[in-house]
Amino acid sequence: MRAAVLVTPGRFEIEERPIPKPGPGEALIKVEHVGICGTDLHIFNGHYAADSLPMIPGHEFTGTVAAVAADVTGLHVGGKAVVDMNIGCGRCFWCRKNEILNCPDMRQMGITMDGAFADYIVVPARLVIPAPDHVPFDTLALTEPLACVVRAARKANVTFGQSAVVMGAGPIGNMHVQLLRTIGAAPIIVTDLSRARVQMALDCGADIGVSDPERLQHAVMDATGGRGADVVIESVGNTALYHMALRLMRKGGHLAAFGLTGPEEKLALPILETILRENSVKGSVAGMGQDMHDALTLLAHGRIRTEPFTRARFPLAEIQTAFETIPDRPEDLKTQIVLAA
Ligand SMILES: NC(=O)c1ccc[n+]([C@@H]2O[C@H](COP(=O)([O-])OP(=O)(O)OC[C@H]3O[C@@H](n4cnc5c(N)ncnc54)[C@H](O)[C@@H]3O)[C@@H](O)[C@H]2O)c1
Ligand SMILES: [Zn+2]
Ligand SMILES: [Zn+2]
Repeated sequence: MRAAVLVTPGRFEIEERPIPKPGPGEALIKVEHVGICGTDLHIFNGHYAADSLPMIPGHEFTGTVAAVAADVTGLHVGGKAVVDMNIGCGRCFWCRKNEILNCPDMRQMGITMDGAFADYIVVPARLVIPAPDHVPFDTLALTEPLACVVRAARKANVTFGQSAVVMGAGPIGNMHVQLLRTIGAAPIIVTDLSRARVQMALDCGADIGVSDPERLQHAVMDATGGRGADVVIESVGNTALYHMALRLMRKGGHLAAFGLTGPEEKLALPILETILRENSVKGSVAGMGQDMHDALTLLAHGRIRTEPFTRARFPLAEIQTAFETIPDRPEDLKTQIVLAA
């Protein structure tokens, strides 16, 4: 099989590798579409998981079940599937609480071990989620990023009728907007420095778009009767925006801490005000288990506009170009590697 190996930051090499064999409890997946996400770019640029290299990245993947080990039941060979990328030990305190990302032995496909920029990948069969045959692979490849967004909305208890601010209209911010729309949040106010991205978010279901940061506070207060929003989701990873978010929440409102900052960044939370206003800050990282199922259900039933995420496609042989040109293609919210291309 072909595998795109990131041999060193900034350089992929396409290698021939033997097709791996599923061991006990495992399934072999024939990979069809793999999305490139911000984390992949960080790995490509050497800013993340550098000690995993050389490695085959790729964690936003879908394909078909090509084979299963003799002890695996319940998976249909030939059927479409998505895969939960987070591998917990399954036995520790955190795994039993379904907080797999806190498992001390957690591994992540394409981040701490080989991933899916290859014709095949072997995965734990328990992490394979069968997908409906009618859903195209380009849509299925969006399950993992949407699962991150689903988890954040669940953790922040977003419900219909709530006002929401989404800071950042990048690929993930756009998905936050779309999920909020599906939930029935209203109004949805989106902000990004890029007018084009604000417009894309408006096209995907936001009610109010703000590209001038000076206008944001006024726009939010204006749209919420001067109270502030029920929920503010930071989806940029900018410390100044986190502080701004504290000022955009209503009394009793929630801040969904989602955009990743550097490890040393601090949020100066006014303690007394937080108590008296009964505000909360809720962190959320990745998506797994139920989040994957729910994301797949929403995609399968057409609740998410996928077109801005599926139009940019590259064959595996051009993965280097695909990564290098992402900054020049802001109108493509996602780039997918298509194995069959
Ligand atoms: N917590 C999780 O589970 C999780 C999962 C996936 C991604 N993330 C994080 O979410 C964030 C968003 O992901 P993405 O892929 O959309 O990122 P991205 O970098 O592609 O997009 C960020 C957007 O923010 C905009 N922006 C930058 N500075 C801004 C500012 N000061 N004000 C308003 N807008 C600004 C940019 O124009 C861009 O459109 C990232 O920090 C990413 O690491 C978190
Ligand atoms: Zn990702
Ligand atoms: Zn564990």
